[in-house]
Order: sequence, then structure tokens, then C-alpha cells
Amino acid sequence: MDQWTLVRRTAPAAAVALLLLTSCTSGGVSGEPGASGVRDPYFPKLGNGGYDVEHYGLTLDYDPKSGRLRGTAEITARATQDLSAFNLDFHGMRVDAARVEGEKAAVSRAGDELTLRPAADLNDGETFHTVVRYSGEPATITDDDESEEGWLPTEDGALALGEPTGSMAWFPGNNHPRDKASYDITVTVPKGLKAVSNGELKSERTRGDRTTFHWNSAEPMASYLATVAIGKYRTKTARTKSGLPVLTAVDPTVAKDSAKVLARIPEIVEWGTENFGPYPFSSAGAIVEREDDAGYALETQTKPVFPGAPDEGTLVHELAHQWFGDSVTPRTWKDMWLNEGFASYAEWLWEEDMYEGGSTDESFKKAFDDKANWAFPPADPPTAADISSAPVYGRGAMVIHKIRAAVGDDAFYDIVRGWVATHRHGNASTDDFTAYVEKKSGKDLTGLWDTWLYGQDKPASP
Ligand code: TRP
Ligand code: ZN
Repeated sequence: MDQWTLVRRTAPAAAVALLLLTSCTSGGVSGEPGASGVRDPYFPKLGNGGYDVEHYGLTLDYDPKSGRLRGTAEITARATQDLSAFNLDFHGMRVDAARVEGEKAAVSRAGDELTLRPAADLNDGETFHTVVRYSGEPATITDDDESEEGWLPTEDGALALGEPTGSMAWFPGNNHPRDKASYDITVTVPKGLKAVSNGELKSERTRGDRTTFHWNSAEPMASYLATVAIGKYRTKTARTKSGLPVLTAVDPTVAKDSAKVLARIPEIVEWGTENFGPYPFSSAGAIVEREDDAGYALETQTKPVFPGAPDEGTLVHELAHQWFGDSVTPRTWKDMWLNEGFASYAEWLWEEDMYEGGSTDESFKKAFDDKANWAFPPADPPTAADISSAPVYGRGAMVIHKIRAAVGDDAFYDIVRGWVATHRHGNASTDDFTAYVEKKSGKDLTGLWDTWLYGQDKPASP
């Protein structure tokens, strides 16, 4: 139903007159501003309403000496309502110009909300093109749990990390996992440095004293998984047995320490493929920075980031995230345990499959006995500061193990592969998951969810 039908049916004449008047003064159009957030339970202002991004074309120029970034974000999106204005999430920096459909758009900012008001309204269903030019020193964001993300300057360059909010420090966008899109990320840096990003390298070109690297991610990616790493890397290419390209970029100071573990990436990706189904992206790899460059590893799409040489468990964890988190992405930040529970369980599985004496029962028991895992139920972290703490990982993995015990190994692997295939390159919630497991297994697992996923208290026995 359009607005006029609605008005004709329900509004008294005076309201119709008023509506006509306001519409006429704004150019005879009926669009409304898109919402400033998508009501995430922890981050209500993340993401924006009224449109869905299809593609980001980011062209960046970084000068490590001054810490200054110049950027152009070209955003192709589809309107999901008639729009008079819409928001992008953007933190800090300066907006130099913005155009929508080739015409200058009015820009206003409040906090991390950048509002663009196009010259003409956008129609529901219309694909539209936005260009934002921006510059400045991108910020490092400190999260509620004191960890740092966003733009992290390093000894020889910089590193961009975005979980859960940090991508808005280096490009304007629809910064919620719900809106996945393809990306072209093109980065110009001083000659002698490299710029590494998600996906595959399409070109590398030096002109004078600057080098430009163009990376393409064809498969959908959530903004929190986008990365750029600038520095003096040693890069290496390999292939898995089935031909998937593997690209690693390693800081020279940690190259020796990480060579052996990184050489196992093809094997781990193949192991993941056997257990979870087809690898979801066109390439795999890793970025290894110096130990102090970041406080944690992150599952950035196709190329997880590690601060220093990863141990084997951490490498398995971040590669498992490519299926759990990167391909099947949480619907909101409350569904984090689906990422971390599965990635942690993958570590247990790897140990069981690869090592004499490794057993998921043993890992389960250890997690059960660890007091930290019982601070809160994994599907209900009390605050934003808790979405990456122990229960989301340890108790999340316990939930997966309990499902396996309840349905048996054959059904378990069918469920895991089916889940990954059903939501490939999409989003899924905890409710989607519990419903899927019950449907596939034909079992009522209410007791399991109540105790292990939602229960406040530790059960008397494992
Ligand atoms: N997802 C990362 C991992 O387990 C950890 C992490 C880093 C994280 N920053 C976060 C988790 C912020 C949640 C929120 O590999
Ligand atoms: Zn993880």
C-alpha cells in the first residue's frame, strides 16, 4: 500500500492537507529517512535502515609517516524503502564530499552517524550509487572490553581490525554483520611497503614512489571481517590439493617462527572441508603481524590476522571461522556464540582427529571444570563487554559437544554440514540454529538448550 492510499483511507482531511504541504515543500516526494540503526541488542546504532549494500569499492591512500589516510568509498546499494535520506556508520576523520546518483548530497554528522540527503528521493527497490570522499587520521577504537580495534598504526605501517565495530574507523558503511556485500579494496602506499587485504590480488602497480594494490572479495563479506594490512611483508603463495590459492603475508621479524605452522594451512583447510563442507571462499591465507601490533587474532575473511606466530590451535580456530562466522554470519551480536562455540569446538575436533590421546570428551571436561565458562549463558551475554569472554567460547563449544552426544556422530556431521550449506554466505540466529538442529535430528532438545545454552547455573554433572 502506498502512502496516499493509506492517507486516503485513514487520515482526516486536515492531515491530508498538511501532508500534501510538507511533501510539496520537499519537492513532491514521499520518501522518509532510513533508520539510524538496526536495533542490535548490544549496539543499537550499528548498521542503518532503508537500504542494503551490494558492493563497496574502497580506494585508499595511506601515508604511514603522518598516519593520514585519504579514502573514497563507492557504495552500490538497493533501497528497501522510499528514502529521503539515509545514514552510514562512520567514526572520526573528515568527510570532504558526498554524491548520490552523481549529484551532490547534503552531509550531516552526529556521533558515528553520517547522514546523506540526496538531491532527489530514492525509490524503494532502486539500486543507487553513493560516493563519499574522506580524509584524516583514522582512529583506534577501544571496545567495552578494553581491547583495541579500528585502525592500528604499527611499526612499519598499519592494521585495520573490525570486530565488532571498528570498520567505521576507516570507511563509511552499513556497519552491522546483517548487511554483507562484495568488496574491491584498492590501497596505495609508499613504494617498498605492501598493502594486503581480503580476497585475491587483482593488480599491483608502482608509479613513481607509490605502489597500488587492488584486492577483490567476490563473495559476500560482513564489514567486521574487512581488513587492510600495510607493512613490509614476506608474501608466499601455495595451493591446497584441490587447487585453492593460499596467500600468506608475514612480518619479516616473525617469518622464521611462523613458517612451520603456516605451511599447514592447506591441510587444515582440507580437513575443514571434509568436516564442515566446501570451503566458502575463492582463496585462503593469513596475515601475521608482530606480537604487539594487535591484542588478539581475528578471523578476517580469507586472511585471518595473527599478532605473532600463531600456535596450531589458534590457526585452526581462525580458519574454522571461515565457515562459522565469515560464511554463516551472526544475525546480531547476541549470536556470537555460534561463531566462537563452533571455532572452539573445531580446535577440540582437530586435536581428537590429529593427536593420539586428544579427545573431545577430555576437552569438554576441562571446559566444564573451568569456572570462567560459567559466568553467564553463552546465548545471553549480559553486556557488550561480554560478547568475547569465556562462556561464549568454552560453553559455546560445550553446547556443540552436547548436540553431538545427543544425536550421534553421523547425524552430527550431517547437521553441521547442512547448517553451513543452508546459510552459506548469509546470516543466522540462535533460534535458526536450535530449530534447524531439532528439525534435522527429529529430536526435541528443549532440555539441552535450557541447560547448556540458556541456563544461568552450572549443572551438577557434565
Ligand atoms: N573473534 C576473535 C577470535 O576469537 C576474537 C575477538 C577479537 C573478538 N575481538 C573481538 C570477539 C571482539 C568478539 C568481539 O578469533
Ligand atoms: Zn574466535
